[in-house]
Amino acid sequence: MLGLLAPTHPDWIDAARSDLDAVLHDHLHCELKAASNATALVARYPMFSRLVRTLSELAREELTHVQQVYAELEARGFNPRPPGEDPYAGALRKASLVDTPHGDLGPLLDRLTVGALIEARSCERFSLLRDHAPTEPMRAWYGQLFISEAQHYRLFASLAEEIAGESVARKRLQELAVREAEILKKLPISPRIH
Ligand SMILES: [Fe+2]
Ligand SMILES: [Fe+2]
Repeated sequence: MLGLLAPTHPDWIDAARSDLDAVLHDHLHCELKAASNATALVARYPMFSRLVRTLSELAREELTHVQQVYAELEARGFNPRPPGEDPYAGALRKASLVDTPHGDLGPLLDRLTVGALIEARSCERFSLLRDHAPTEPMRAWYGQLFISEAQHYRLFASLAEEIAGESVARKRLQELAVREAEILKKLPISPRIH
């Protein structure tokens, strides 16, 4: 799905269903990180006008997701905490630093490519929750998030192609997708979005 090379382990669905509070709490922080990553890219690369326009809009949308997840946690009586470690995203960023493509735009290409893969994995997990969450309103909500994160994947991939060229960007997406699949395989199956 969406550039990913390995599907989520089927046992993840039961892990998620058995502790939805934990899934939602991780989700809250994923949305916050998505918004802050987008604004950080805008701050670092203001010379790319399509990037500025689209990622500032994306940050706005991710903040609406923050509000939605927060409301769900509140309704469930769950008290959110500051974020814990994020082994998935941390490992993926680290894996991208091994051989960042040369040139001034190499680091930007990697940040956009890592962004695309993180969005793709969120999207895949939302598709599982769209099908398996316990209530109809939740399934409908995850269906909307699935659509939204698929669009975000396409946005990051298209920005990477625009900035680095189609063939360079696609090759890098393939390379990092291999590493993403390896990282996922090594992580324990747990009630998290990543
Ligand atoms: Fe989001
Ligand atoms: Fe997103």
